[in-house]
Order: sequence, then structure tokens, then C-alpha cells
Amino acid sequence: MKNNSITEPLGQPLLSCHINGEPVTIGVSPAKRLLSVLRDDLQLTGTKRSCEIGRCGACMVLMDGVPVNACLTMAYQCTGKQITTIEGLSQDGLHPVQQAFLEEGGYQCGYCTPGMIISVKALLDENPDPTQEEVEEALSGNLCRCTGYGGIVRAVQRAIEWGRGSQ
Ligand code: FES
Ligand code: FES
Repeated sequence: MKNNSITEPLGQPLLSCHINGEPVTIGVSPAKRLLSVLRDDLQLTGTKRSCEIGRCGACMVLMDGVPVNACLTMAYQCTGKQITTIEGLSQDGLHPVQQAFLEEGGYQCGYCTPGMIISVKALLDENPDPTQEEVEEALSGNLCRCTGYGGIVRAVQRAIEWGRGSQ
């Protein structure tokens, strides 16, 4: 993250929130979206811009632990919230879900993977031992347009197994 201070001219409404645990105060126009704040203002480019209409999941981030599409989330809606991006998952080394994606070939391209990992993390935080159906439901908002879901599904299963081992 570039910095956590005011990065746009005063006179605009201020957004105050936490991003990856850091307090952030930034001037935002009323029409600005969270995706633009993250990528364009804070250089948190792990969150991807793709369809921009809520269809693909490339822009998925956590808001107070719940996955949301950053392309559909207005910046002002983030006031007082805790936002977690893919960068925030690896502050103390790779998150187990990231590690599982690497080991099982779930990391197929840089575009869909961050959003997939965010969705899986949210699922496993809420439900550490989901069924296959629950995994598919959790990933239903994350599209892979190219390679397929085999490696991704294996990665999720690996992360679930690791979770079982640590219980
Ligand atoms: S870029 Fe947000 S859902 Fe596709
Ligand atoms: S879009 Fe990323 S692997 Fe298919």
C-alpha cells in the first residue's frame, strides 16, 4: 500500500476504514468504487478489474469478513469497515489457502486466482469442513474463463484437509 494518509484533495468526502489492518483515510468522489480506491489510489493491484459488473469475481475482497465484489461496492459504503484484499492474507507468510492453490495447481492465472482465494478463505472461516456442494456454491461467483476448475477444486480439498489436521 502506498500510504495510509489522505491521498486526494481535501474537499471530497473522506472515507475512513481499515484496509488489511491499516487505518486509511482518503478523499473519494461519491461515485468512486472500492475497486478504484484499491487499485488506482493504493496500488493494491492483487484485486483484479475484469467485468466490472459483478459477474466474474476477479475483484472479490472481504468486507468485515464477508466476500463482496469491489467493482460493485461504492467507496462510501466502506466507512468504518475492515477491508481485506489478497495482499492482506499473506502478511505473515502465505495463507494456507494460498499454499494449497500453489501445491495443487489451483493457481492457473493471475486474474481469477485472487478472487477465488478470497472466496475460499471466507468459506472456510465460516465453515471449515464444507461439502462439495457448499464449495461449489461458495465459488459460484468466481469464474474461470480458460483452464477449468479441476486444480481449483483439488486446492480447496487440500485446504479443507489441512484444516481437519489442525483441529
Ligand atoms: S470485476 Fe468485479 S465481478 Fe468482475
Ligand atoms: S480465468 Fe484464471 S485460470 Fe481461468
